[in-house]
Amino acid sequence: MDHFSYIEGRLHAEQVPCTTLAESVGTPLYVYSRSTFCDHYDRLAEAFAPLDPLICYSIKSCSNLSICRLLGERGAGMDLVSGGELHRAELAGIDPARCVYAGVGKTDAEIIRAIKAGVGWLNVESEAEFENISRLASKSDMTCQAALRINPDVDPMTHRYTTTGKKETKFGVDIQRARAFFKSYGHDPHCRLAGLHLHIGSPVYSPEPYVRSIEKALELIDELKTEGYTIDTLDLGGGFGANYETDQSPIAADYASHIVPLLESRVTQGLKIILEPGRSISANAGVLLLKVLYVKTSGDKTFVICDGGMNILLRPSHYDAFHFIWPCEVCADQVPLRREMKPDLPGLIVTDVVGPICETGDFLALDRPLPPVKRGEVLAVFSAGAYGMSMANRYNSMPLPAEVLVDGDRVTQIRGAESYEDLVQHELKHEPIVLKIEEKAGRP
Ligand code: LLP
Repeated sequence: MDHFSYIEGRLHAEQVPCTTLAESVGTPLYVYSRSTFCDHYDRLAEAFAPLDPLICYSIKSCSNLSICRLLGERGAGMDLVSGGELHRAELAGIDPARCVYAGVGKTDAEIIRAIKAGVGWLNVESEAEFENISRLASKSDMTCQAALRINPDVDPMTHRYTTTGKKETKFGVDIQRARAFFKSYGHDPHCRLAGLHLHIGSPVYSPEPYVRSIEKALELIDELKTEGYTIDTLDLGGGFGANYETDQSPIAADYASHIVPLLESRVTQGLKIILEPGRSISANAGVLLLKVLYVKTSGDKTFVICDGGMNILLRPSHYDAFHFIWPCEVCADQVPLRREMKPDLPGLIVTDVVGPICETGDFLALDRPLPPVKRGEVLAVFSAGAYGMSMANRYNSMPLPAEVLVDGDRVTQIRGAESYEDLVQHELKHEPIVLKIEEKAGRP
């Protein structure tokens, strides 16, 4: 469910025609719907309400400050994985105590900053990391709280690049090692090991892998309790799916109907539940608008060449991800049914939708039936709100695009398009500095 729809053949973001946005702000352009963000957050909160969870929005999915602020105002905490994300959360007015901080490679500076800010839970991914956190907390004469990320060895049935809950990935520690972990660090004076953290992958299109990993986590919690360790927090991670194709994903209530019964009695006994949704809130809340620069044929192929590609939306080339793409203005018989169009509709042309980047892997869709399009037309790439702008890059020295947030008929620009000056500012702002490098004995 989202608030992007065709009205009389014109795609609207809430009440605003997308072509009007493209004309007035320029393309490439990320367009977000405020109501969609809010609805998705509210539905999730409602579905899981019996567990009274802390919902930590996963900033990495769509990290614009205005989006963080919007969700923060609705009660969200944040799921962080870097000092940069903590900075964003703080600027957006989020209480760090309502934040969780994961990631296998936290630097000393990031850890110290997180402890000083009072981040709620450092989600620890290895023994070496825990020792470092404890050492840094003790050095600053502070205490902190951590959750151990366990790797339940459950297959989330998703792309191998975004599978995290299997033993052979770099994330968390397996259950066997988790037992030893608590023996070593379960009574640390500087870092209280208060919880377990799970995040098995993303997107996970069925509740079943969650059920299996939660069952394993609960078993471990019980076992640890008999050994004298109190686990008062269980962070379930994120990964709930989004609709890249029509009705591809279960809705929040479907996940909740399997997960809530497993945890309700535990919550009554004092277990705190945390969720870290990203994509399920942001993916369908954004579209990417691109202008068609050229249409060309080569061999048997027709290419629609747009003013943005893998630089602005990396997912198709990186994960072979499907994003529905359609012109923003079409005649009545070509209005698509949500995120699918029957490929046998008369008049469609099989095309590769590609970007301007000098790589053959720069594509947004391959062999995709599309209505014939002309130079200057605007295309919408749907379900682009998650891991779109947040993974965009400046390859080929292409400036990053603008972002707008639509609320009914009101449009707010929440990020300006970068200029060529922005591209080079860190190279030209200062005279090149010759660094004085002192040789140090040994490694740090
Ligand atoms: N929690 C942790 C610890 C995570 O690593 C992630 C995502 C999330 C929560 C949020 O997952 P979500 O609810 O958004 O699925 N770039 C990929 C996705 C990478 C996900 C990384 N971690 C993509 O475009 O599909």
